[in-house]
Amino acid sequence: MEFRDAVLKRRMVRHFSDRSVSPDALERILDLARHAPSAGFTQGQSFIAVTRPEMKAEIARLCGEQEYVGGGFHNFISVAPVLLVPCVSEAAYHRRYQEPDKVDENGKEINWPVPFWYMDIGCTVMIALLAAVDEGLGGAFVGVPDLPALKVLLGIPAEVTPMGVIAIGYRLPDKPSPSLKRGRVPDAQYIHREGW
Ligand SMILES: Cc1cc2nc3c(=O)[nH]c(=O)nc-3n(C[C@H](O)[C@H](O)[C@H](O)COP(=O)(O)O)c2cc1C
Repeated sequence: MEFRDAVLKRRMVRHFSDRSVSPDALERILDLARHAPSAGFTQGQSFIAVTRPEMKAEIARLCGEQEYVGGGFHNFISVAPVLLVPCVSEAAYHRRYQEPDKVDENGKEINWPVPFWYMDIGCTVMIALLAAVDEGLGGAFVGVPDLPALKVLLGIPAEVTPMGVIAIGYRLPDKPSPSLKRGRVPDAQYIHREGW
């Protein structure tokens, strides 16, 4: 698939068939996402891949799937054959930026201009979503309100933050998000040429 087509075809899909995703396709998605950039090549990003129905049901509960269903959406989280939980370790970045090639002129960790760990996991998630499209699949990222509960459920270490859940599977026709009614912002609001 052409890169442009993958980008334009991608959308958050909220209805999946129960057809399973082959382990090879899942490996390819995870492997491509691993090629995301990371500040200082820290590679603080990681994934938990969940396919067991009971665990998917628990994760779906934490995502508030019943509220989606109440709002006219399908039970797209528990039905999706694969749930990926993208994670990032902020602590890994602090450790990396205390290494000799990364400390500032005073031998100290830099003052972070922005939390690059969130930028890096965002890049990783984007590749995973596009890789799913390239495999003929769809994906949806959803937030999880109670992250501590998700951490306990999946045994995630204290220093690692799960960002939410990516449901992945074969697409079925779905109800579009009401947010899309907002439309795209005008070009002038999005592109500022030669300065803001
Ligand atoms: C950081 C982030 C959080 C999101 N959280 C949710 C969510 O909790 N539930 C949901 O249904 N969609 C969620 N979305 C999907 C957005 O609603 C969706 O990306 C947006 O409406 C644009 O639609 P599209 O991705 O299909 O083009 C999230 C997207 C992002 C990038």
